[in-house]
Parts: sequence; C-alpha cells; structure tokens
Amino acid sequence: MLSGKTVLIGITGGIAAYKICELIRMFKRANANVRVICTPNAMNFVTKLTLQNLSQNEVGIEEFEIPDFKPEHISYADEADIMIIAPATTNTISKMANGICDNLLTSIFCAFSKPVIIAPAMNCNMWNNKIIQENLQKLLNHGYTILEPENGFLACGYQGQGRLCALEKIFDAAVQKLSQPQTLKGKKIIITAGGTIEDIDPVRYISNYSSGKMGIALSDTAYSLGADVHLITTVSAQKPYVVEKVKSALEMQKAIEKDFADADCVIMAAAVADYRVKQPSEQKIKKTSDEEITLTLVKNPDILKHLCEIKTHQTIVGFCAESENLIENAKEKILKKGCDYLIANDISRKDIGFSSDYNEVSILTPNGVVKKLERADKYTIARQIFEEIYG
Ligand code: CTP
Repeated sequence: MLSGKTVLIGITGGIAAYKICELIRMFKRANANVRVICTPNAMNFVTKLTLQNLSQNEVGIEEFEIPDFKPEHISYADEADIMIIAPATTNTISKMANGICDNLLTSIFCAFSKPVIIAPAMNCNMWNNKIIQENLQKLLNHGYTILEPENGFLACGYQGQGRLCALEKIFDAAVQKLSQPQTLKGKKIIITAGGTIEDIDPVRYISNYSSGKMGIALSDTAYSLGADVHLITTVSAQKPYVVEKVKSALEMQKAIEKDFADADCVIMAAAVADYRVKQPSEQKIKKTSDEEITLTLVKNPDILKHLCEIKTHQTIVGFCAESENLIENAKEKILKKGCDYLIANDISRKDIGFSSDYNEVSILTPNGVVKKLERADKYTIARQIFEEIYG
C-alpha cells in the first residue's frame, strides 16, 4: 500500500513511546520505508536496538552524528514523505509551536515542509493546560494535523483525556495523506453535519432524523484531498481535523460565521431546524390535567440564505431534502437561497438518505441540473461532489 513512501516517525519522551513499536510494524507491513528519530528522553522508554530492528534503519537521536555534507535534519526532512510525531509530549509540542530547534527531532520538524501528524499523549491536567491548548491551536492554525488523545486510565494513575489515540487512527490518517491527490490543498472548507437540536426543556428537544453521515463523509473526503476542514456538527466525531460540536441552529450559525470570512467554501449538509421553541423552559415541564399542551415556535435564521447574502468570495453549497417533486422543488430552492450549488436528495426513499450509508443525489447550479449521481456510498458521492465543484 505504501511502497515507495518514507514515513518518518518521531518519538518523544512519554510512556506511550512503547506503543510506537507496533506502529512501526504497521507501516512496515504496508511496505513503507520507516525512519525513526527520538528525543534523548524517549530513550528512557524504548531502546535504540528495538527501534532499529523494527524499522530496519538507523535510529537518529543526536544531531551532528552522521558524517555527511548535508546536516542530518535536512537529509531526514528531504527523504520523508510524511512526519508523524507520536507520542508528542507537552515539552515537544511547545517547542514545535514556538520554532525551537534544540534537538534532532525539533530541528527536523522545523525543516519539514510535507504533511505532519502530531499525536499527543500526556497527563490530563497537562492536556487541559491553557498554554498547551494555545500551542496546539497554533500548530492547527498552521495546517498541522493533531490527533487528539483519548479519554481513559492514564499511566500516571489519573483518569481523563491524555491517552495516545488508537494506532489505527494514526496509521489511517497517514495513509489518507499519502495516497490521495491533494486537489483541495490550501482550501479552507467549513462543513456542517447532523440535525440541530432545539431544546424544549432540560430533558426534551425537537430534532430530526439526520445522522450526519453525509456531512462527515464530505469532511473526511475533503480532508483526504488536502483541505483544511472545519466540521461543525451536532453528532460526535473524533477526526484528525477540526471538529466543533454544536447543538442548536443558533449555535451552528455562530460557529460558521466566526470563521466564514477566511473560508473558501461552506457546505451546509446539516438538517437545520426551521423553528425553535420560543421560550425553552428552564425546569422540566410537568404533566398537568390538560389533554393538550401548546409549544410556541419561532423561526430560526436561514443560515444558508444569510451566508449567500453576506458572502464575498466563498463557494456556498446547500443540501435540499425533499419528499416529493425533487428537482422542481430543488430548482426553486437554489434560486430562493442564492447558493452556488444545491445537492438535492429524495428523502422519501428508504434505501438512501437519512441514516443510510448510501445516497443518490442531483447536483444543481442556479442554471439548472448539472448532474445526477447514481446511488452509491456516501464517500463516493462526496468525492463526486468535490469533483464537480473543484474539477
Ligand atoms: N438551512 C439553513 N438554515 C435553516 C434551514 C435550512 O441553513 N434554517 C439549510 C440546510 O442546511 C440545507 C438547505 O438550507 O443546506 C436546505 O434545507 P431544507 O430543509 O431542504 O430547506 P428549507 O429552507 O428548510 O425549506 P423547507 O424545509 O421548507 O423545504
């Protein structure tokens, strides 16, 4: 799968370093050439001999070791197609975020211009430290991929977020980055997913059957094509790109508009509730002797329409769920909303759409139907949508 590719794995000094032995094996099994570099502190947790045997290559630790006209941090950076730093400790993350090059690993990172995946692992209090979060945000803003640590029992005895994410997640993120043409590189894309949740009281809400699968498939696909993805979703997702969880239509609108000015494209795959409860009750609504109850609903903002009104350079894509007269209604809707593309799907069919892994859609522009995409899994549909928009 990865023959001809060189994966550079940087190990720093955390207990999760021992897990990287298996990650090296995974890349070797996929036929990658694996180079390993370690910070001096990593050697407290794994041995050079183990890493050398597993990677079948020399392991770099100190600078100025290799007698070559090219400094080794430049040779390593030139040779590799991707760099993975796992586990990434608080110390190394902070150095990377501030351009400090005081060992071989941080020097290579600074000289590396290809994709970098960073998988932090640390004590949960260190992870939640605001300075560390700021440093991580800085790395994210510069396009580095951060694979967040998972919740669980930590080696230090604490329970919380800090465990190195699953090795499969690191491997998959690397494979995605290495095997796709990067046609969306440099594009900032905001994608929404899921049905919004409008509170009635602290225990009840109004929502819809949207599973978020189409929005997530679009986000994964955009990410694998090199885009800088910001997924704004009502359903949880652990992804190697920015995921912002929201609940209501108003929260979704706020999250989109915060980053809208810098975005190149917004895809509104979310099923946004048209109405919300006028005055959600702060306390649980009690049953009374009345046979009827009335909830007053007020209109939510039409996020898509508003984005189209305020847009400057962004490509705006809407979705349209119809249970009858699909194309006729979609043609009307694209003109009413003012978006550049509208992806129309027929929600009356049980074999596609809501909750299904499959979809069948028509892509419309304001001039008419551009293309009908045959029934396929949502990832294939997502790829075809990006091909239509970006060629
Ligand atoms: N949408 C939105 N804000 C809303 C309602 C919908 O941004 N308040 C977006 C959806 O994310 C989708 C598109 O508008 O991309 C169309 O959604 P749809 O529910 O089909 O259309 P509506 O405008 O709600 O019209 P109707 O429900 O009457 O068909």
